[in-house]
Amino acid sequence: MPARNNKQWTADPKLEKGEWIDSRVYSDETIAEEENSKIFKQVWVPVCHESELPEPYDFRTTSIANEPIIITRGPDKVVRAFLNVCPHRGMLIERRPSGSFMEGQPSGNPKRMTCMFHAWQFDMKGNCVYVSREEEGYQDRLCKADVGLRRLRCEVKYGGFVWVNLSDNPSVSLEDWAGKPFECLQKSLDEEPLEVFHYHKAIIDTNYKLWHDTNSEFYHDFMHYHNRVTGFNDSYFARKNEAFDHGHVVVGSFEVNYENYEGFESRAELSFPHLPPNQWYMIDLFPGFNFNLRGSALRTDVVTPLGPNKVMIEFRGLGLKSDSAEDRATRIKHHNSIWGPFGRNLHEDLIGVTGQGTTMREKTDNRRILHGRQENQTIHDENGMRHYYDEWGRWMDRLPSAPDQPYSPPAAAAEAEAAE
Ligand code: FES
Ligand SMILES: [Fe+2]
Repeated sequence: MPARNNKQWTADPKLEKGEWIDSRVYSDETIAEEENSKIFKQVWVPVCHESELPEPYDFRTTSIANEPIIITRGPDKVVRAFLNVCPHRGMLIERRPSGSFMEGQPSGNPKRMTCMFHAWQFDMKGNCVYVSREEEGYQDRLCKADVGLRRLRCEVKYGGFVWVNLSDNPSVSLEDWAGKPFECLQKSLDEEPLEVFHYHKAIIDTNYKLWHDTNSEFYHDFMHYHNRVTGFNDSYFARKNEAFDHGHVVVGSFEVNYENYEGFESRAELSFPHLPPNQWYMIDLFPGFNFNLRGSALRTDVVTPLGPNKVMIEFRGLGLKSDSAEDRATRIKHHNSIWGPFGRNLHEDLIGVTGQGTTMREKTDNRRILHGRQENQTIHDENGMRHYYDEWGRWMDRLPSAPDQPYSPPAAAAEAEAAE
């Protein structure tokens, strides 16, 4: 096949509809803004893990779709989520990434969230409990009951993750949303409490969906020398990509031969409960949340889009809370040897998606991105991405292969075209 001129380069591939998409889904600023309101403000987001706020009055802050969020643990041990926005004049209430309200702030009392601007205070249930010079300023025109924080739907589930939904009326319950894909790991994650032992975030110049793509296609294992030598065997190539409702995908397990990589060791001894030795499951939740269990260590990725070509990815590593110091050190070694900054895997993935981000940055010409590998829904099939983009099209009411057109299902689209 010779090199192609621009007309050929931008022409539709000779593949079925749904087997390729238009690169504007990654580069268009309007689409990126729309994704925040149409997707991220409507879905369940695993914002953190309960072990990151273990004590009453502990808190963490984060954001979903540009809205600042605070998660607190109350004296009743219940984890709750609120907009981290003061109802008075819109100040960000808490600026620290995490901490405890057991100590008072300079303008407030212990056990309260205090807005430093004019010293209004809120309890762990989001009730406003103090308005400075309330009577003098408001007489009886405004009472504290009218100025509580904005409460958000929040549930702790599937291994102790804290799930928040910005919508008061989510289209599906958390169980309907994530229950099925989590079935493969539920016993392993819920047998005993888990604990976060690793956290870092990366802000990279790429589209958030490209990160999710790389988590849901394993064809790029050619890039990972470690994965090739420990993985490429018959059972690896038989791993199934299973699609679930709502755009989620689970990559089925197989046994990894860690000893095939010089200096690495079996992870059998510290396998999560109920998990056969050295197994490796992966759950990819739409629109960009990933749960990756390599036997003895669980990694989670949570994406926060910061623009069409910028994403923050929060990475967590988890083990069992009951770990001895020695076991924990081994788990951390297992985690870091694959996914740490000097590990054998994560940085390679980041190189891959930043390369894509370079060619698909804002305002670049649109072209075709292929998702057309068909291998019986096994590991190098790209059915996971096809499933994802069909869901994306539905939420956005855009056709992934022609995003300025309204959504229609791939099969119907093909039929309609044939009838023309
Ligand atoms: S803005 Fe928060 S107390 Fe005024
Ligand atoms: Fe990878």
